[in-house]
Amino acid sequence: MPSNPLLFTPLELRSVRLRNRIVISPMCQYSAVDGLANDWHFAHLARFAMGGAGLVFTEAAAVQSDGRITHGDLGIWSDAHAQALERVTAFIKSQGAVPAIQLAHAGRKASMQRPWHGNGPLDASDRARGEHVWAVMAPSAIPMDTGWLVPSAMTLGDIESLKQSFRDGLARSLAVGFEVAEIHGAHGYLLHEFLSPLSNKRSDRYGGDIEGRMRLALEIATDARAAWPQDKPLFFRVSAVDGIEGGLTIDDTIVLARRLEAIGIDVIDCSSGGLMGSATAARVKRFAGFQVPYAAAIRRDADIPTMAVGLITEPQYAEEVLRNGEADLIAIGREALSNPNWALHAEEALGVDNEYASWPVQAGWWLDKRKKAMGK
Ligand SMILES: Cc1cc2nc3c(=O)[nH]c(=O)nc-3n(C[C@H](O)[C@H](O)[C@H](O)COP(=O)(O)O)c2cc1C
Repeated sequence: MPSNPLLFTPLELRSVRLRNRIVISPMCQYSAVDGLANDWHFAHLARFAMGGAGLVFTEAAAVQSDGRITHGDLGIWSDAHAQALERVTAFIKSQGAVPAIQLAHAGRKASMQRPWHGNGPLDASDRARGEHVWAVMAPSAIPMDTGWLVPSAMTLGDIESLKQSFRDGLARSLAVGFEVAEIHGAHGYLLHEFLSPLSNKRSDRYGGDIEGRMRLALEIATDARAAWPQDKPLFFRVSAVDGIEGGLTIDDTIVLARRLEAIGIDVIDCSSGGLMGSATAARVKRFAGFQVPYAAAIRRDADIPTMAVGLITEPQYAEEVLRNGEADLIAIGREALSNPNWALHAEEALGVDNEYASWPVQAGWWLDKRKKAMGK
């Protein structure tokens, strides 16, 4: 391995400088009350900034209260929701990392159980906890599966108010110090439901061919580019493939990525699946780096920077993905839950010897002394 790993080479996106190419992927905590961030969210996100990541994403923040997946999701639908995140952004910056927010609407996958309560439609046990069912909307009145809520097909009025909610969510995010925003267009949530021919059977201009199905995502991206400062980057998360017969293919996603690039989206965050089944249940085979080929194909064929994510756990492998030109950023999810200091350990694993200078001094000072005392 080279002594100047790409993983630890800073990256400039517009005028935002990331100290390295490690990103903490958005991870719902299902722990908010009425959409408001609390101490849990602070501690959860703070540890990744202390742990050396370059960019730290919040979980999906719902732009409308009905766009939450569960009762425990974070929201960004009022100023109070944004203000609850202000100390998070301030602390992330104080640790040398960059704070990022993911904006989302869950569409027909809204109003479901927290994973540990069953990950299915809300039932009597949830109602006993006071968690009521709310009506859900989607491009077409097609439920995700049998037994799931039947969404109402969105009217043009619903679409306009959704677009306004994304604009408002972005303005609020900016006001409380986020430097990067991502539009969630993946995992079977609302924008993905518009993109996929399996969930979008509309006959108006928001459905039909790929142009129609992409329209809402492109309009929201265009609005976002206007609402978000020119010197700050915007990401868009895709499910690169549905992995279901008749669903989205990598070729469709490359078409979308080219259009997003032309609008001024800076990075495509390359996930997959989730159109049917819970959360990120991709109907694709999983193995280390299983989504890296999507990041590579989109980067190559749409000529736009990409973020690779999904079962990337080894620093050497992360470095290889960057060296091979398969992606520009590496997102870590569950491995960061296992080890919030993943980035700091990765630096050591890749042979960067900086005497713990990247660690918070409160730990690094001691660890350096300990290493020397042990004669290492
Ligand atoms: C607890 C948990 C919550 C997640 N929440 C989100 C989310 O809010 N938005 C999103 O786009 N992906 C979400 N994901 C998917 C992750 O961002 C990531 O793509 C996925 O876990 C694969 O990466 P990994 O193998 O490094 O964990 C979540 C994953 C986990 C494990």
